[in-house]
Amino acid sequence: MDLQKLLNEMTVDEKLAQMTQLVPQIITDKGEGAVTGPMRNFGITRKVTSKIGTLLGGTGAEQLKFLQDFHMDEDPHKIPLLFMADIIHGYRTLYPVPLGLGASFDTELAEQCCAMAAKEAVAGGLHVTFAPMVDLVRDARWGRCMETTGEDPYLNSKMSAAMVRGFQGENLEKDKIAACVKHFAAYGACDGGRDYDAVELGDRTLREFYMPAYKVAVDEGVELVMTSFNTLNGVPSSANKYLVDDILRKEWGFDGIVISDFNAFYEMISHGIAANEKECAKKALDATSDIEMMSTCYVKFGKQLLEEGEITEKQLDDAVMRILKLKEKLGLFDDPYRGASVEEEKRLHLCKEHRDLARVAAEKSAVLLKNDGVLPLDENVKKIAVIGPAADHGMIGGWFCCGTVAEAVSALDGIKNVAKNADVKLAFGSTFDPNEKPEAVADRIAEAKKLAAECDAVVLCIGEEMDMSGESHTRARISISDAQAELVKEVCSVNKNTVTVIYCGRPLALEKINDISPATVIFWHPGTEGGNALANLLFGRVNFQGKLPMTFPYEGQSPYFYNHLPTGRPNGNGGYCLRYLDTPYEPVYPFGYGMSYTTFEISSPTLSSNEMTEDGEITVFVNVKNTGNVHGIETVQLYINDVTASVSRPVKEMKGYQKVALAPGEEKTVAFKITLDALKFHTFSGEYKAEKGKFKVFVSNRSDVKEFVEFKLV
Ligand code: GLC
Repeated sequence: MDLQKLLNEMTVDEKLAQMTQLVPQIITDKGEGAVTGPMRNFGITRKVTSKIGTLLGGTGAEQLKFLQDFHMDEDPHKIPLLFMADIIHGYRTLYPVPLGLGASFDTELAEQCCAMAAKEAVAGGLHVTFAPMVDLVRDARWGRCMETTGEDPYLNSKMSAAMVRGFQGENLEKDKIAACVKHFAAYGACDGGRDYDAVELGDRTLREFYMPAYKVAVDEGVELVMTSFNTLNGVPSSANKYLVDDILRKEWGFDGIVISDFNAFYEMISHGIAANEKECAKKALDATSDIEMMSTCYVKFGKQLLEEGEITEKQLDDAVMRILKLKEKLGLFDDPYRGASVEEEKRLHLCKEHRDLARVAAEKSAVLLKNDGVLPLDENVKKIAVIGPAADHGMIGGWFCCGTVAEAVSALDGIKNVAKNADVKLAFGSTFDPNEKPEAVADRIAEAKKLAAECDAVVLCIGEEMDMSGESHTRARISISDAQAELVKEVCSVNKNTVTVIYCGRPLALEKINDISPATVIFWHPGTEGGNALANLLFGRVNFQGKLPMTFPYEGQSPYFYNHLPTGRPNGNGGYCLRYLDTPYEPVYPFGYGMSYTTFEISSPTLSSNEMTEDGEITVFVNVKNTGNVHGIETVQLYINDVTASVSRPVKEMKGYQKVALAPGEEKTVAFKITLDALKFHTFSGEYKAEKGKFKVFVSNRSDVKEFVEFKLV
């Protein structure tokens, strides 16, 4: 296809329509923009919708083939539609929410899961996913924790690259889809953890913590970048020339598509940086935003801006060319349906291979926080109670795309599938209501307690319902509810053989139950195969290996993160130091923490040298031994601390991790290479470099390790 020729034949109106994304129901309204209805709300008519460039949120081979036909009949240049949707943790077969996938510390798994999602999405007619979402997050109150892989830039970067590879492959092969890294930038740093709230960040912190995972996605060849709703230092990302044009395009060399978030252009007005939609259009285009999602500033005012000399046709041509190039790369001009196929949907969606992968992902994402001898449960247990609001339905998680609860395996069913001869009983005890008081469900708690007393083992399934995390689901308080805590207390008072499984899309404050429950598992929102994965874990068919990708704080500590600065009065130095009067300083559970059914011994680290030159490297060695009696996988983590530098440096920064599989009694030497790159940081003057001096090296299976060795950069 001669794209330049096609572009030259397009009118300004056609170019502006090509730069607009709406939902399917708007374009299929055959009316001429009726007096009411969606088109009317946007102030557009069929003149625009018949030439639109891309649709948001349609799914399914049949529907998307119809929409493509509908559109191609009318589009004067027969330019196929681009179909985009949120495939965040699976298309139809759902794996754990990304925060859970992050807990696996397994980038190969993440890549496999995204590849599986891409295959299912291609059959469903999709071309682009609005993923990976790689916003670093430090505040558990933010509902969108569930979509991220947590608080660490190193882990987020590893996961970001793996997810882009999984979705896109090498070159958008036929079973791949284009990925859209989001939300650029620093959306997770919103004030108070409040979704959509302002973000104020110094450039160093922005670049050191929040930018790496986006940059890695760009370096991996991600096709699209979505700008975020939030202001960054006073300017909404859609209009933020510094962010999008200076950094993303010029500094990083990104020449793919920049798409806004939903209605974000129009929201510049409520942000108070644009007086009207015309100004929104101008600001967005000057920031090189190519596609306007679900608002119509471009199509309504682009032509006027051009005529008034406020924008240039080249700006439009650059944007449209980027869109046409992606359509060409996806092969849409040759085959507008691409891989849409009802037969393929039937063959692939929820097939055994995909369900197996989803189950393995849920198994690897689960984090064992505590186990006072309760786990693993005995498969020959006679009577077992499954209790709690999360017990009887599949906890698939938010952003579930085409996945359904009905197709998911609940904890109850998963346990029945493994403990085939057991009498498996169900009770609810409490609801998910975070404000629920014990007295409101006293009868149900009493019923659950009575049942627990009659059983050999109890699996408590509590935490957050799927719709309690995700977009615009900020929580000011992240504690387990009083009613759920009472349920745990009452059940554990009559049955010590109890495990508490916590379903969540964010870290929860666990202090109310932490000392009461003899065994506790973080199971996130595990997706379609959650119940089977949980049963395999609880009965010991599979061992735990997950590690926390975010700190689990006490209520009131958020935002809390392990890689914080030391300050002049670090915690523990007596009264005048970093501390709370009413809450411990350390979190309930630290980043990187997670137990296994076996135990591991990690030796003190040794260094290949205690000095390193700028062109040299140092190797760190530890010996890891499985000192228990079952096979296990340990995630050995490498942290450094730059002791003295021109700016205050984090007390720890993760610079590597390795997953090590060991049989009982087996031991291995694990080596990490440290080069100059691992020591670099953004100086106050804006350079990115390492500075000579002392560095501490920590190696452990959790971030709150105290022991270290030192070397000097000379
Ligand atoms: C939403 C989200 C974004 C999503 C988009 C399209 O508002 O912020 O993550 O991709 O709209 O659904």
